[in-house]
This record gives sequence, structure tokens and C-alpha cells, in this order.
Amino acid sequence: MQVFNSIKEIQQWSLQNKKQGKTIGLVPTMGYLHNGHLSLVREARKQCDIVIVSIFVNPIQFGVNEDFDEYPRDIQRDQLRLEAEKADAIFAPAIKEMYPGGYNTYVEVLGEIPGKLCGSRRPGHFRGVTTVVSKLFNICLPDKAFFGQKDAQQALIVEKMVKELNFPLEIVRVPIVREEDGLAMSSRNVYLDHEQRHEALILWQALQKAQESIRSGETNVETVRRQIKQMIVACPQAQIDYIEIYNASDLADLQKIRGQVLIALAVKFGSTRLIDNLIVEV
Ligand code: PAJ
Repeated sequence: MQVFNSIKEIQQWSLQNKKQGKTIGLVPTMGYLHNGHLSLVREARKQCDIVIVSIFVNPIQFGVNEDFDEYPRDIQRDQLRLEAEKADAIFAPAIKEMYPGGYNTYVEVLGEIPGKLCGSRRPGHFRGVTTVVSKLFNICLPDKAFFGQKDAQQALIVEKMVKELNFPLEIVRVPIVREEDGLAMSSRNVYLDHEQRHEALILWQALQKAQESIRSGETNVETVRRQIKQMIVACPQAQIDYIEIYNASDLADLQKIRGQVLIALAVKFGSTRLIDNLIVEV
């Protein structure tokens, strides 16, 4: 497995691989890899000849009061995990390699999809994501890029960007990987203390309960949101950021629950903000 820090070097390497007719799969990450990330790597390994994993804690997608400085990092452990998964290359650039002095170009998807959920709570976040992802696409030249359903809104926004800017690649979405007890895997789970870790199980329990009530005929959005809220407020440390139910393909508001709907939650436990979601087909 090769480790690249230089944009020029990996771009040339990718180009050579493409000239030899090999397909390239890219898995963009911010590192501190867990089994959720590795499931994207495994999918890329299945579908592509060459697998590149980028590891870059992207400063421009963090707000001023967010956890950029504390974000967990362990590149050595990441490297061992990726070697075990038979990835071909890691791209781990320094911040000034990606954003040299005077950097001033951004890519932003506008409209309804980025205006909701995390987009409305984290100003500039998705602009930071779409900018770095565009750069990674131009640097690594993937045929396919792999994104997790864990960040459902991010996947929708990146898909829209790829379509509207005509990037010559396919986005592959990979299902959420959970701990045995149901908590969605996240690099941020390490921030949770014992009690918060236990309380955080309520997210998956509430999503399942909502699914159950929708499947047994509930079509009222407010009723289902209220059910979820009741379960979450019973946890002393939980502070709800949002509980929303939208059309799964475009985040459109719903009069009634029908078709494919996305139930999305963001809840803080102490200072740790967790997100989770479930798509329910009615
Ligand atoms: P990061 O949070 O490191 O996640 C990298 C990828 O792993 C994302 O596509 C995310 O959806 C996926 N992922 C995380 N947890 C997962 C889980 N439990 N199951 C399945 N997939 C999971 O998302 C980012 O980084 C950044 O915004 C990035 C796209 C790299 C741009 O900086």
C-alpha cells in the first residue's frame, strides 16, 4: 500500500492506472477509521481494481465552535487497518497542500436539500464538504466514489453535485454499520462517557419504534415525530437538535408519510452531537 501526501504524485499515479485500463474507487474519509468506514473500503475493493482511501480532517467543513481541533486522529492505526483491507493507496495531504495561502475557490450546492437538517444547523458545512470532495475527485480521478448512508444528507448533496457538474463518476451508497447494540458507528463515539454511550442507544431504538408505527399504518408526520421525541427526552443527557421526516430522495416536506421516507435525528449527549437515520418504505 502506498501513502501519498502530494497532490501531484497521486494524480499522476491515478492517471497511469487509468491509462492501463484500471478502474479506481475512492473512499473519502476524515480518518480514525472504524468498521463503518471499512465497509466502504470493502465495497470499493469488490467493485474497483484500485482502491484509494483519502484521510483528511477538512478544516473548512467545521464551524468555529465545532470540534476540528479535538477531532480524533490516528493515522498509524488507520494505515494498519487499510493494509488489512488491501487498499492500494492512502492520500493524506497536509492542510496547506489542499488549501495553500490565498486559496479562494468553493463549490456549493444550493436549494432545498442543503437547506435542511444539518445544513440549516451547521452553516458552511456542506460547502466545505462539496469543495473538498470536488478537489478529491479531481486529484484521485475515481470511476466510483463510496459514501455512507450514515450521512444521508451528505450523500444526497454529493450525488446532486456530481450530476449537476457532470463529474464523470458514479456515487455508490453503502448502508449504515452499527455496533452490536445498535449505535451507529462514528469516529465521534469515542467522546461519549459510559452513561452517554448507554443513553445514545435511544437513537436507534426510537428509529425502530418509528418504523414500527409507520408500518402499522401511522401516516401523520407530527405523530411519529412526537413518539420519537418522547423516547429521547426521557434520557437525562439528551438534547435534541432535530427530529425530521422527509421524502428520502429530495428531502421534500411531506403532507403524509408515504413512499420512501427518511427519518433523521441529530441529538447531543453532553458536547457530542450524534446523527442517525433510517429509510422506511411505505
Ligand atoms: P467521515 O465522517 O470520516 O466519513 C467518511 C465516510 O464514511 C462517509 O461517507 C460516511 O457516511 C461513512 N460512514 C461513517 N460512519 C459510517 C457508518 N457507521 N456506516 C456506514 N458508513 C459510515 O463524511 C466525512 O468523513 C467527510 O464529510 C468527507 C466526506 C470525508 C469530506 O470531508
